[in-house]
Amino acid sequence: MSPHFLSATALHVAFGGHPVLTDASVSLPTGQCLALLGANGSGKTTLLRTLAGSLRPLSGQVLVDGVPLDFGRAGLRAHRQRVQLVAQNPDDQLFAADVFRDVSFGPLNLGLDEAAVRERVAQALAALAIEDLAERPIHELSFGQRKRVALAGALAMRPSVILLDEPTAGLDPHGVQELVAALDSLRRGNTTVMIATHDVDFALAFADSVAVLVQGQVRHGSAAELLSDPGLVEAARLRQPWVLEAAAGLGLDPSGIRDVAGLVAAAQAGVGVGSVGGVA
Ligand SMILES: Nc1ncnc2c1ncn2[C@@H]1O[C@H](COP(=O)(O)OP(=O)(O)OP(=O)(O)O)[C@@H](O)[C@H]1O
Ligand SMILES: [Mg+2]
Repeated sequence: MSPHFLSATALHVAFGGHPVLTDASVSLPTGQCLALLGANGSGKTTLLRTLAGSLRPLSGQVLVDGVPLDFGRAGLRAHRQRVQLVAQNPDDQLFAADVFRDVSFGPLNLGLDEAAVRERVAQALAALAIEDLAERPIHELSFGQRKRVALAGALAMRPSVILLDEPTAGLDPHGVQELVAALDSLRRGNTTVMIATHDVDFALAFADSVAVLVQGQVRHGSAAELLSDPGLVEAARLRQPWVLEAAAGLGLDPSGIRDVAGLVAAAQAGVGVGSVGGVA
């Protein structure tokens, strides 16, 4: 697989004459996690839907392994097997009576036999620690549980690329940890992940790089670089991750700091353990 299996160039997408993406280009590094950040209404969901083949751009291209996406029936069917979009709202995605049937729907459609489908469903539910929900009716589940079931449905397809629209919204802290563990194991398995999120701390700690949507265009780079650019942070209506703010406050070099452990290590290296205690 190429280093950028899925990419898009110069996307232009508008609704009712109102442009949302004006010249958006992005390449998803294969096997890595890319966080997509931007204000409400900046076009994150629109970009994910375009990459997934659910929206056709007015101009520009979605490229799969360097080849323009075929928007014909067969082309889109093949694309949706390899590129799974998990919607912001799980209720846009879940429709079967119970969890097992919902998660097995995609694999059954691939024509797999019953044993293979069962194995995929079991693995997807285990990846999200929701095996105990298998027999439960969907309508009885909480919002956070439904979000995890929707993600399990996508995992069961074993896609090359998974596009997640605000997967942490509505999850409790344990749910977020379980999601992070599931995403980490996907990354280890060379699955490419793109996550639209408002959580800059999560993006810095977890993503390999970030894409920031501002005025219909994408800036792609390292989280530490882009999220410590005050102009970009303001234009995208974001805030700096708190560990970068703390690093600046402590006079530390922010590069390489992604989380509390990194902040503590930088502080110890920079000013000595005794002084850190004094600062804190
Ligand atoms: N189907 C649609 N019809 C008309 N306008 C739409 C449609 N989908 C999106 N839009 C408009 O496109 C713009 C971008 O919407 P989008 O949902 O992509 O933003 P977002 O960055 O995902 O926002 P949020 O952070 O709130 O999820 C908004 O102005 C929205 O009203
Ligand atoms: Mg959105």
